[in-house]
Amino acid sequence: MRIDILTLFPEMFAGLLSCSIMGRARERGLVDIRLHDIRDYTHDKHHVVDDYPYGGGAGMVLKPEPIFEAVELVGKELGLSAVPTILLTPQGRLFNQEIARELAGYQHLILICGHYEGVDERVAEHLASDEISIGDYVLSGGEVAAMAVVDCVVRLLPGVLGSEVSLDEDSHIEGLLEYPQYTRPPMYRGLAAPSILLSGDHAGIARWRRQQSLLRTAKRRPDLIEKVVLSQEDKKLLSEAFEIKS
Ligand code: ADE
Repeated sequence: MRIDILTLFPEMFAGLLSCSIMGRARERGLVDIRLHDIRDYTHDKHHVVDDYPYGGGAGMVLKPEPIFEAVELVGKELGLSAVPTILLTPQGRLFNQEIARELAGYQHLILICGHYEGVDERVAEHLASDEISIGDYVLSGGEVAAMAVVDCVVRLLPGVLGSEVSLDEDSHIEGLLEYPQYTRPPMYRGLAAPSILLSGDHAGIARWRRQQSLLRTAKRRPDLIEKVVLSQEDKKLLSEAFEIKS
């Protein structure tokens, strides 16, 4: 997969791109991430990327020309007339695991990071094919949002994670939160790890994990549990868990 990111601050991405899973995925050629400084697509002496908002008001607005030109040049380089192009904005559709899976299915993606008071609306209307928000809060720019999206998408690409099993058990994969994890020591400061996990009883462990996952989701995210189709066994596990708790 290739991802082209248009930003005023390419240097912000250095950490994400070089470390951990992302660093290894890039080294192994599983993803090709290209950063484009929007300023490089201006033609004036001072490389101006923003201007005052028409109609007045506070702050500056990113001009459409360098963004249109950058997207068009990427398309030309790829030999494609249309590349899925996402504008990161608090006004976009709310990002989630399902959208991450959808984006991971593309060969190419272009991400546009807005900044300042916003981006000229013609970019959203006539250039971007999608607008994505990572949550109902306002960041100072789209870079952190783009990093969240890229990170989520890249770990879903084939071969990026060591074991495919760890993907299936992630939080949100099935619409549920993940069960709690423990590691050694079995007792720490008087706090014991659940004995079932040390029992070697694989069926018992799977049952406990499913129950914890259901309980956690019901308590912390009632909005999620309402959307999940629960089996008879799930319902049993859940009511049993609530009985134990109360
Ligand atoms: N830019 C500023 N805030 C944002 C958000 N919440 N999501 C995506 N892009 C943004």
